[in-house]
Amino acid sequence: MLIHFVTDEPTKIPAIRAMLEPQYDVVPQLLGGGDTHFNPNSVLMVDADLRKAVRVEQIKLVLQGLSCVPEKLFVVENHFHHMVAQAYALGATAVVSRSREIILKLAQIEIAEKAAQTDLAVTSPEITDSAAAFASMFSAIRCGKPIKLSDAENATSQIINSIAQNGLRAWLDDVRRYHEGTFQHCLLVTGVAVGFALDLGFPSLDVKRLGIAATLHDIGKAHIPLSILDKPGSLDPGEEAIMRRHPVIGYELLKDIPDISPEILDGVRHHHEYLDGSGYPDALMAPEISDLARLLTISDIFSAIIESRPYKPAMPRQSAYKILCDMDGKLERSLVKAFRNVALVA
Ligand SMILES: [Fe+2]
Ligand SMILES: [Fe+2]
Repeated sequence: MLIHFVTDEPTKIPAIRAMLEPQYDVVPQLLGGGDTHFNPNSVLMVDADLRKAVRVEQIKLVLQGLSCVPEKLFVVENHFHHMVAQAYALGATAVVSRSREIILKLAQIEIAEKAAQTDLAVTSPEITDSAAAFASMFSAIRCGKPIKLSDAENATSQIINSIAQNGLRAWLDDVRRYHEGTFQHCLLVTGVAVGFALDLGFPSLDVKRLGIAATLHDIGKAHIPLSILDKPGSLDPGEEAIMRRHPVIGYELLKDIPDISPEILDGVRHHHEYLDGSGYPDALMAPEISDLARLLTISDIFSAIIESRPYKPAMPRQSAYKILCDMDGKLERSLVKAFRNVALVA
């Protein structure tokens, strides 16, 4: 997505670039600095001192002829009341203050655009909101900002509500239709893990704990280059070694968050461990692998197999379940058996 960034302050340009690139392409324009070609498909973002009449006039000039641009974000520090009013008077469609709000708003716009492009204008708010929360968490990490546990909790609650109301099948179908790559994977794993916990009759606190662990399980991928994450086909050994760092990166990113439970941290670090000791990063053996990690590993593998990618059609759920059954020795047999209902029926 292209962001056309209009500002009165040159130092704001590197700052916004650091925040938004490489996820978005930023085209900057200095107020009063002459015309810049404006791509009609971009999002307009204005960050200027709206208390100055001269700036307001310059913005009006820029906005002339841009009435067709659907999204006009204005950045107003601390939501100063009179500047917010001025922003809306100039035609703002949204006013944002802090970087977190900017990232979240852009993620929502991007998701809405994708939904529109794929003729899925009617998308459940749970999917939109939880996908936006994933985008926000990943962007925050890439900018070196701390993760907010409340983002993960909110996204998880939305997913639990959606699956409790509409079932797992609807969730899987919707997510696969219009999300890609890592976000699709995280939404699928969380949905499958929540579906698994509900099917097993877990108390709501345990459903939530497993759901949050699933939401955060691949958060370490925020530090893996996109060229590796989105590579079509298999990774070479060097790329594979980098990819295998993500559980430890995720654990390190999360371990100092106040109130995060040790079970969730353990699940994030150990969701690629196998009972026979052949997993990573710590090559744990069966007695050292927690129940939560075992449930998460099954949900993770199943979701990875049924993902749809531009270069790989989604594998049917029956085939994915057969692969799990063939991993005897690595996954807990009784849990794989219990998972049958989730894999094939739910
Ligand atoms: Fe992973
Ligand atoms: Fe994963």
